[in-house]
Amino acid sequence: MNRPLPNAIYPGLKGRTAFVTGGATGIGCAMVTPFARQGMRVGFCDIAIPEGEALAASLGAAGHEARFDPVDVRDTDALQQALRNTADRWATIDVLVNNVANDSRQDWRDLTCAEWDNAMAINLRPAFFAIQAVPPGMIAREHGSIIDLGSISWKAKYGTMPAYTTAKAAIHGLTRSYTVLHGLSYRRWGNTIFVSTRSFPVGF
Ligand SMILES: NC(=O)c1ccc[n+]([C@@H]2O[C@H](COP(=O)([O-])OP(=O)(O)OC[C@H]3O[C@@H](n4cnc5c(N)ncnc54)[C@H](O)[C@@H]3O)[C@@H](O)[C@H]2O)c1
Repeated sequence: MNRPLPNAIYPGLKGRTAFVTGGATGIGCAMVTPFARQGMRVGFCDIAIPEGEALAASLGAAGHEARFDPVDVRDTDALQQALRNTADRWATIDVLVNNVANDSRQDWRDLTCAEWDNAMAINLRPAFFAIQAVPPGMIAREHGSIIDLGSISWKAKYGTMPAYTTAKAAIHGLTRSYTVLHGLSYRRWGNTIFVSTRSFPVGF
């Protein structure tokens, strides 16, 4: 498999704008940082406020353009406002990364309605409403990319986080359906990335 070189420069990214949900720590941070180093303008939101502010400050100090919005993605209005603020500030959002998640372990036998709803409000609902806010501009420009962070957990039949795995299965359906809704090419406009910390045989 061809792997991107860690120090490679991708000139096509320079000057583009990205927005990453849940970008202050973890994999989100691991996308925000290289996006900024490629010369992209990066907006990101998170509930981890000290980490988000520190990341934006360190990228800014290094001469990169990064903006952090302290947003709990369960607040849909706040999420969409952060996206609008980012688009207003930099005139566009070229890349939306639906990354935010919470994979808390839950026993299906005593999972409550409130816990189920909370899991959907973090792992599924924000992706739809971020997509609702961003692609109209992409469609107008005939340019853009939406990356939905999926998980192999539902395909691998993990049983310890039923609400999370259900949401992640739905994320894949969301990716496929919004591209069709917009009459767009699935491959060109949107992709689910199936994240895994383990290796699985092809066709698992
Ligand atoms: N790490 C893995 O092994 C793994 C495996 C499969 C899939 N994934 C997927 O990759 C993505 C990133 O994974 P990760 O391990 O970095 O996740 P993580 O839990 O470490 O980080 C998610 C980020 O979202 C933030 N967040 C959580 N709840 C929030 C809320 N209500 N509002 C705003 N921000 C909130 C967290 O503060 C954190 O910065 C997720 O979509 C996850 O499902 C990860």
